Amino acid sequence: MFDPRAFVEEKVDELRRTITGKAIIACSGGVDSTVAAVLVDRAIGERLRAVYVDTGLMRKGETEEVRRMFDRLGVHYRIVDASGEFFAALKGQVDPERKRKAIGERFIRVFEREAREFGAEYLVQGTIAPDWIESGDGVRDTIKSHHNVGGLPKDMALRLVEPLWDLYKDEVRAVARFLGVEVSERQPFPGPALAIRVIGEANPESVGVVREACAIVEEELEAAARNGSMVRPWQYFAVLLPVQSVGVQGDRRAYGRTIAIRAVESVDAMTAAFSRVPYDVLERISLRITNEMKANVNRVVYDITNKPPATIEWE
Ligand code: XMP
Repeated sequence: MFDPRAFVEEKVDELRRTITGKAIIACSGGVDSTVAAVLVDRAIGERLRAVYVDTGLMRKGETEEVRRMFDRLGVHYRIVDASGEFFAALKGQVDPERKRKAIGERFIRVFEREAREFGAEYLVQGTIAPDWIESGDGVRDTIKSHHNVGGLPKDMALRLVEPLWDLYKDEVRAVARFLGVEVSERQPFPGPALAIRVIGEANPESVGVVREACAIVEEELEAAARNGSMVRPWQYFAVLLPVQSVGVQGDRRAYGRTIAIRAVESVDAMTAAFSRVPYDVLERISLRITNEMKANVNRVVYDITNKPPATIEWE
């Protein structure tokens, strides 16, 4: 039987003995990196810096949530507001893969700068057993980095520390509960964040629109799941389309923007089926998006494709 208390005691002791300099970790608020940060913080305190990069592409309230969590846990952290840099890198980019690349590269630059300024010698990562076991041969370089914006280059000349290397997800959750880290039941969220939910250029305005729309989708579907009218889908969000369509405003015809709603059921994201969201829930979402948002959205559509042939995200 896995004993989180014994694990924490032994691991903190080991980390204290092995980390002789300063260490840095990139945290996005996920369970694995947060637990890793708390363990290392217990071992070396202010010689750790947990860095949260605010890319300007996060969901509504996300940065504040992370700040509150780190404050509560007493971890030594720094929130770096790099949104200006990210939007500059995304200017004029409309190709999905180039957008991903721009975000990934910018993330690395910002993090490297932090590591240098802090004088870090160690890089802490929240790698867990499935991250390397599922990669087939357990070879380290296929880990997380490939699907996460937080993927960091191997030539950073920092020594890797991976305190959760041997743990499985349920064990990490047990350690999280023991350490008082809230295990978020939030849906999966892509590394490139809201940038890939704007079809076309992601800029502060377009990301702001999709952020509001995503928040409305989350609020309404989660409320409907709480009151029992449906089961919470596996993933659910809004996408801002580069399509203007005609509508009526007062007694005039006017062009407005289009938001697509996506909600899917899946187990592993490899395949997915669109969720059978009740019409009245969809209607509430549509009304709120067109009435509450000051974004000139006059049309809301629901995506009824499965994966394959579609993907879950639109980019
Ligand atoms: P797709 O759209 O390929 O998505 O069906 C499958 C799952 O992966 C997420 N996703 C990403 N996650 N970086 C990530 O970390 C990405 O570039 C990325 N693209 C898609 C998506 O949200 C879904 O859960």
